[in-house]
Amino acid sequence: ENFFKKKADFQGKRILITAGPTREAIDPVRYLTNRSSGRMGYALADAAVARGADVALVSGPVSLEKPEGVEFYPVQSAAEMYDRVMDLKDKADVIIMCAAVADYTPIVCAEHKMKKQDALVIEFEKTRDILAEVGKTKHAFLAGFAAETQNLEGYARDKLSRKNLDMIIANDVSGTETGFDSEYNAVSIYTRDGKAVHFTRDTKRNLADSILTEIAKISG
Ligand code: CTP
Ligand code: CA
Repeated sequence: ENFFKKKADFQGKRILITAGPTREAIDPVRYLTNRSSGRMGYALADAAVARGADVALVSGPVSLEKPEGVEFYPVQSAAEMYDRVMDLKDKADVIIMCAAVADYTPIVCAEHKMKKQDALVIEFEKTRDILAEVGKTKHAFLAGFAAETQNLEGYARDKLSRKNLDMIIANDVSGTETGFDSEYNAVSIYTRDGKAVHFTRDTKRNLADSILTEIAKISG
């Protein structure tokens, strides 16, 4: 390959990526969130830009630099992420949902800081499943993530079919060498044709390229 010629296999493709956790406010000073550094989603955004894609990155609060060259849409809550993705989804050729969206949100957010008491009960309701909603009216290649601590393939394949996805990227988060907060990860990719591809421990940036290559093989 020519030294000066960038690998631009995603030239002209529009990719929508969600990344990071969401924050669900309990009161003005407290929130419920998920463990997520945003690194995997940001690595995907960076790799996609490098390969010529137009990238929209919808990100929950993380402490990472915005990748260069992306259209950046910062959000806080699952509801905000939902609205932003609904606005953008029909413009995308490929959608990769990497965000660790909170599954529950407080039914009410207290107006004032709650005072300490002996015991506390907070009522939560389920958030809307953004990925499943996009899967219902699918116009783009749709990839989701599944972080599991057990039965990785079973749970991942269940999400693949239940949410009408083209691909699910699964990672085992029970270990400490990969996954949360780490620069490293290891993933298994499952597709509708029943096939599986496994990528052993590598940097999230390298895995991002491997994931994009798998997407390119299927989405053309
Ligand atoms: N997801 C989403 N909206 C939600 C919850 C999850 O878009 N409200 C997406 C995530 O971004 C991820 C995929 O769904 O791409 C799987 O998330 P995960 O938490 O593993 O699946 P859930 O369906 O929430 O199931 P569970 O938490 O019970 O394992
Ligand atoms: Ca979940």
